[in-house]
Amino acid sequence: MKIYRTVDYQEMSRMAASILAAQIQQKPDCVLGLATGSTPIGMYDELVRQYQDGTLDFSLVKSVNLDEYKGLTREDEQSYSYFMNQHLFGRVNIHPENTYLPDGTQTDAGAECTRYEEVISRLGGVDLQVLGIGRNGHIGFNEPADSFARATHCVELTPSTIDANKRFFEKEEDVPRQAYTMGIGTIMRARRILLLASGADKAEALRGALYGPVTPRLPASILQFHPDVTVIADEAAFSAVR
Ligand code: PGA
Repeated sequence: MKIYRTVDYQEMSRMAASILAAQIQQKPDCVLGLATGSTPIGMYDELVRQYQDGTLDFSLVKSVNLDEYKGLTREDEQSYSYFMNQHLFGRVNIHPENTYLPDGTQTDAGAECTRYEEVISRLGGVDLQVLGIGRNGHIGFNEPADSFARATHCVELTPSTIDANKRFFEKEEDVPRQAYTMGIGTIMRARRILLLASGADKAEALRGALYGPVTPRLPASILQFHPDVTVIADEAAFSAVR
C-alpha cells in the first residue's frame, strides 16, 4: 500500500487526478471505476481542466461506477448518473455509451446485479478503481456487516449513511433507503485501487481501514489485502493516526 498525506483537499484532488491522467495516457482505452460523493469532485474538476488544456483525451476511456440509488431514474438530480454527467461525463469527450452505472429503475434486483457484473466482465475488468470512504468505513455502499459481500448486490442503507447523505436532499425522508452497489469482491478484482479521504469526519474510519483488523464491520479494511492500493488523504483525515 502506498500512502500519501496531503496538506489539504486541493492537493489530494490534484494528486488523485494525476494518477488517473497517467492511467489514461498509459492505456487510452482503460476501464476506470468511478465514485460519487463530495470527495472526488475536486479530482473531476482537475481532470476536466486537463481535458480543456488538451492534455487529456477520454475518447476511448470506459467507466463503471460503484453504485446507484435504487428507485431513481438517470435524469433524477439526486441520482449518481446525474452526478457523473454534471461533474465529469458532460464536461469531457468520453462517449456516453462507454459509461456504465447500475440502473436504479430496475426492480428485479437479482437480474440487475447479474447484468452489472456481466458488464464489468465484458469490459475486461477495472484497471483503476477510485474509492471514497464513508464515516462508518463503507466503500461503495458496502455497509458494515457480518460478512463481506462478493458481487454487486442491493443494500439497505444504514442510518449513518442516510444521515451523511441527507445534505444532498431536501429532507431526510427523500434519501432512498436502498442502493445497488458493486460488492467487496467486485472492488477487490480491480487491478489498482485509489482510496481518497478528506476531512476529520473520516479520521476514525481511515485509521481503522489502514491500521485496524480486517473486518466486515469496517469494510474498507479489506483493502489491506489488495496488492496495489494507493491512499491519498489530507491531514485532517489522518488526524487519528499518530
Ligand atoms: P463523501 O462520501 O465523498 O460524500 O464523503 C464518501 C463515501 O461515502 O464513500
